[in-house]
Amino acid sequence: MNKDNSNVEKSSENKDKLPDENLSLMTLEDEMLENLKQHNIPDYLISVYNWAYVNPKNIDRLDNSFIYHFILFGQGWRLMKAYLQEIKEGDRVLQVAHVYGNLVKKMAEKVGSKGTLDIIDVVPHQLERAAKKLVDFKNVDMWLQDASQPYHRQYDVVGVYFLLHEVPDPIKRKIIDNALKQIDENNAKVVFIDYHYPSPYNPVRNILKLVNIFLEPYANIMWDKEIYEFTNQAHKYHWEKTTFFGGVYQKVVVTRKP
Ligand SMILES: C[S@@+](CC[C@H](N)C(=O)[O-])C[C@H]1O[C@@H](n2cnc3c(N)ncnc32)[C@H](O)[C@@H]1O
Repeated sequence: MNKDNSNVEKSSENKDKLPDENLSLMTLEDEMLENLKQHNIPDYLISVYNWAYVNPKNIDRLDNSFIYHFILFGQGWRLMKAYLQEIKEGDRVLQVAHVYGNLVKKMAEKVGSKGTLDIIDVVPHQLERAAKKLVDFKNVDMWLQDASQPYHRQYDVVGVYFLLHEVPDPIKRKIIDNALKQIDENNAKVVFIDYHYPSPYNPVRNILKLVNIFLEPYANIMWDKEIYEFTNQAHKYHWEKTTFFGGVYQKVVVTRKP
């Protein structure tokens, strides 16, 4: 009998709570938006990429190696290898923005205990994901920072991996110029991996065209412009470009002019 009573009590408690819970769910959503604003998450991330990079549930779903390789048409390993080639043991490396899958772990392994890996991102949950992957590494540091804002440390390598195509053009410029400063100040190397102009015969060209129209509004310009065209400082540096998968992807390594 006691049991029954307690059940009744519980269910009436629940009933009483229902409207409040709904209400608090709504406020939670508002609160989340408010939080995002307080963290200075850029508008384009909220309006265009909320589903991929801001919503914590989706981040947890998407942040895995299978998704990473799937969206890159199976070229993920190749691009990762080409990127990691630019890092050597003992380097001080800055990774500009978290990347899904295990790239950041591979970077931390590559620099080794004598090197350091710093990671910046504008979304707190992205850094939480990165921190989970890197819990065993003592040579890693990370903090919330917009990649268009000045860095406060010195680096040998600055890596910008698939970020440019996701930001509006004025931000592309700021991110690039910011990274290039490390060449002037520390003789660093800046490595960009991003989309590029796919050859007209490439079978994935049309798929990407649609993706750009519907999901990636800042990406198509990567087909029309070289990365050095986004900076007025291009003449000061040496730009070495390699393309992959019939022109779909590019690696650009920027160094001081010999
Ligand atoms: C590097 S890009 C995407 C790379 C790749 N598509 C992947 O699989 O992760 C995505 C990351 O960039 C971050 N991001 C976007 N704009 C940023 C900015 N201005 N500064 C720092 N991080 C930024 C997002 O929060 C997200 O974690």
